[in-house]
Amino acid sequence: MVSLIWFSGHRPDLSPACARGSGNVPGRRAASGCPVVDRRRRYVVRKWLFRGLLLLIVLGVVGAGVGVWVLTRPPIDTVGEVSFDRALAVPPLAPSTVDKDGRRVFELRAQAGQTDLGRGEPSATWGYNGAHLGPTLRAKRGEQVVVNITNQLGEDTTVHWHGMHLPARMDGGPDRPIRPGETFAPRWRVDQPAATLWYHPHPHERTETQVYRGLAGMFLIDDPDTDVATLPHEYGVDDIPVMVQDKAFDDDGQLTESGRFGSEIGILGDSVLVNGVPGPYLDVTTTLVRLRLLNASTARIFNFSLSDGRPFTLIGSDGGLLDRPHQVERLMLSTGERAEVLVAMRPGERVVLRSGPPAPEGDFATRRFQGGGDRFDVLELRAAATLKPSPAVPSTLVAVPRLDPASAAETREMRFSTRDINGRKMEHGRVDAVVTRDSTEVWTVRNGHGTPHSFHIHDVQFQVLARTDGGPVPPLLSGWKDTVYLPPHEGYRVIMRFTDFADPATPYMFHCHVLRHEDEGMMGQFVVVEPGGAPQLTTHHEHGG
Ligand code: C2O
Ligand code: CU
Repeated sequence: MVSLIWFSGHRPDLSPACARGSGNVPGRRAASGCPVVDRRRRYVVRKWLFRGLLLLIVLGVVGAGVGVWVLTRPPIDTVGEVSFDRALAVPPLAPSTVDKDGRRVFELRAQAGQTDLGRGEPSATWGYNGAHLGPTLRAKRGEQVVVNITNQLGEDTTVHWHGMHLPARMDGGPDRPIRPGETFAPRWRVDQPAATLWYHPHPHERTETQVYRGLAGMFLIDDPDTDVATLPHEYGVDDIPVMVQDKAFDDDGQLTESGRFGSEIGILGDSVLVNGVPGPYLDVTTTLVRLRLLNASTARIFNFSLSDGRPFTLIGSDGGLLDRPHQVERLMLSTGERAEVLVAMRPGERVVLRSGPPAPEGDFATRRFQGGGDRFDVLELRAAATLKPSPAVPSTLVAVPRLDPASAAETREMRFSTRDINGRKMEHGRVDAVVTRDSTEVWTVRNGHGTPHSFHIHDVQFQVLARTDGGPVPPLLSGWKDTVYLPPHEGYRVIMRFTDFADPATPYMFHCHVLRHEDEGMMGQFVVVEPGGAPQLTTHHEHGG
């Protein structure tokens, strides 16, 4: 730059005599004989050539610098840096009343507020019935539930019951927005095995933002037939909801939504909250503690382990308990997935739940740009000096009846690539799959390129039949699932049965659970119809529910 300034102020070609000459009339030779025009033209041409060259050099240097920074920028690593100085908050169980028809009635108010997220000053957040996150809803299989949802936000929202088997009209999809100030009261009969489900907004193109600001909570289903009495089950004591979310903050301690440089999957924060608490510890008072892990991030994939490498016991996935416990040392959860695990503790010890690089050998771009190389300290478990003995882990859990691919009435292929599924983006007026009630289908869900995606489907829980490349299927995918991670260029064959609810007018969704991808249209609609029926969408999206 210095030379550029020097050059533009200097005319090296003109002899002092010619430079001082007064007869420099364009187009003519000066009386002194100095070649005014040619020299000036040459000078101007050279000046611009030089400037162009300099610009190229500067761009090259900057480009190379960015390249070096991108290649050498260390991954995010908070291992050993987290002070664990706040007690883990356990979301309160939502109070409920039983109405005259015997239905269990909950109230949820979506609202804005301020929350201490450990940044010195309060951060602006959203929550249900409070400033951040939401209470845990809990109901028994067979119960009728009603949830009165009031929207106190300044924009449309919905509440989707992730993992729940229920009528499409109650499902909180983007076609039924709740306008600001309005109340919507979905009602349904809970009828599925005991499970750790969750709820979150699902409005058109605003899901990432609304979840990120704090709209999320758990919905636990109890079922005397599929609860295992000897498992830890005292909520907040030895049975702990663990909602894990990454957040990015600006200098004023406010949540930023801009996304990390180069991220293809939206926001990737550099700090991790559990149930909204930064750097939390949990006081453990029993020899076994049950953690209901939920990855409620918008994009980040967690790869959980314990700090001393000890194994822990995987007992449940999205849709309920597995048929038997599995000892695992790592557990990968993409966004929206849940797992129930048991951790064995000895008196007085401390062990940290960590997340290691989810893609240590993954492709370069995933490691570098999609958080695949990042590590986090998540939650410290602190055992009391004396622990109450928990019953031994049973050797079998529940029956998981296998769905038979030979019984499938339909097979479909779903290829996730760029922001499309099978080359198409979400359209409210279009039905992508028409499913017959009480039929079984096999879907091949595949990631067609190099960016991580996931597959989530509403209404049903599926079983994984195989990996598309023939590779091993991890224990987490041995039971009921509603969401599955699709690593770059990989996929699964899954089987599901669509029972009970037919409604030609209202679609259910299937989509990528990377919420920015969902918002950008990586979503499709399916309608469940009676045998021989046809869809007749009445979309409420444009004119209100
Ligand atoms: Cu958790 Cu359609 O979403
Ligand atoms: Cu995606």
